[in-house]
Amino acid sequence: MAEPPIRLAVLGAGLIGKRHIDHVLNEECAELLAIVDPSPEAKILAVQKNAAWYPNFVAMMEHESPDGIIVSTPNQMHVANGLEAVAAGVPALIEKPIADEVADATKLVEAAETAGVPLLVGHHRRHNPLIQAAKNAIDAGRIGQVVAVQGTCWFYKPDAYFDIPWRRGKGAGPIFVNLIHDVDLLRYLCGEVVSVQAMESNALRGNAVEETAVVLLRFASGALGTVNVSDKIVAPWSWEFTSGENPAYSHTQETCYMIGGTLGSLTVPYLDLWHHKTKPDWWEPIACERLPVEAKDPLGLQIQNLCDVIRGVAQPVVSGREGLNTLKVIAAVKEAAATGRAIDVV
Ligand SMILES: NC(=O)c1ccc[n+]([C@@H]2O[C@H](COP(=O)([O-])OP(=O)(O)OC[C@H]3O[C@@H](n4cnc5c(N)ncnc54)[C@H](O)[C@@H]3O)[C@@H](O)[C@H]2O)c1
Repeated sequence: MAEPPIRLAVLGAGLIGKRHIDHVLNEECAELLAIVDPSPEAKILAVQKNAAWYPNFVAMMEHESPDGIIVSTPNQMHVANGLEAVAAGVPALIEKPIADEVADATKLVEAAETAGVPLLVGHHRRHNPLIQAAKNAIDAGRIGQVVAVQGTCWFYKPDAYFDIPWRRGKGAGPIFVNLIHDVDLLRYLCGEVVSVQAMESNALRGNAVEETAVVLLRFASGALGTVNVSDKIVAPWSWEFTSGENPAYSHTQETCYMIGGTLGSLTVPYLDLWHHKTKPDWWEPIACERLPVEAKDPLGLQIQNLCDVIRGVAQPVVSGREGLNTLKVIAAVKEAAATGRAIDVV
């Protein structure tokens, strides 16, 4: 007999919250119990989606007992929402970044681990089969030892994006909102980052947050990386444009990461694997094969993982602690940019 669906509530029905709501409705393993968001638009949406509506978590818990929640509120609220869920014993998938500050994220992760309440973080790209295929190829030694990586995260956010005040404030620039995804993937693919250097600029918009940053990464393996992020550049080279995972963006036939090893190199997301034909030697002919992969929606796979974790049959693909470790790198990037020093990630 099929198991009953996992009853989920979505907190925050904004840009990404609406996508979570639709994915919860689409996944067989899940059911949309409630939308929790104080805005009048969210109340209307709840009626349209045939779900209960509550202005906040506490109000919901007076009437409902969800199996889990998805937290897609503004960054600044993630820790408060996460701690409420942990205190109530409700498993939570929290959008990235898990928190604005490492200390707050640590408090949340430790509270969840002590209480034994599952915590997942919305670095959904790890769920993408493209990334699983890249990881399998790297782990299988197809490019030898990783020597260096190069990542590009360039796109142009229109002025209207910044009409929502929290998107102009601390913790909401492209380092925290976008680069965090790239850093999370590079950690996943290439191992732990131990040290960073960085420069950032807000020269064009003059907002409190950066619009551009360039970052150097040192991995525990000895590999080095460069990543470059800007939300003020018109360009086709970002995960958003190259992966094709979100139909809201153009899909360009370009790449956003190049991962170089002693035996070969891999482009992501196209998974072009480059090798010299006979031996690693720049005088030898070089050729490329494209690794096969079946496209699947990572947001749907993330909800499947959340349901499996709640049922106790899987571990989180991205745990709270993994989200914390990615946040530590991002916090080090901000500190490196502010001080001009190399910062160890501890
Ligand atoms: N994984 C991804 O690819 C991805 C993409 C976009 C955003 N995000 C993350 O998701 C979060 C939300 O981003 P967004 O762009 O959707 O924001 P948004 O501003 O569009 O939406 C936030 C929503 O939260 C609601 N809200 C405010 N206070 C609330 C409260 N106390 N309880 C419940 N709801 C409340 C607001 O009314 C709003 O509807 C951010 O942390 C962001 O970094 C992740």
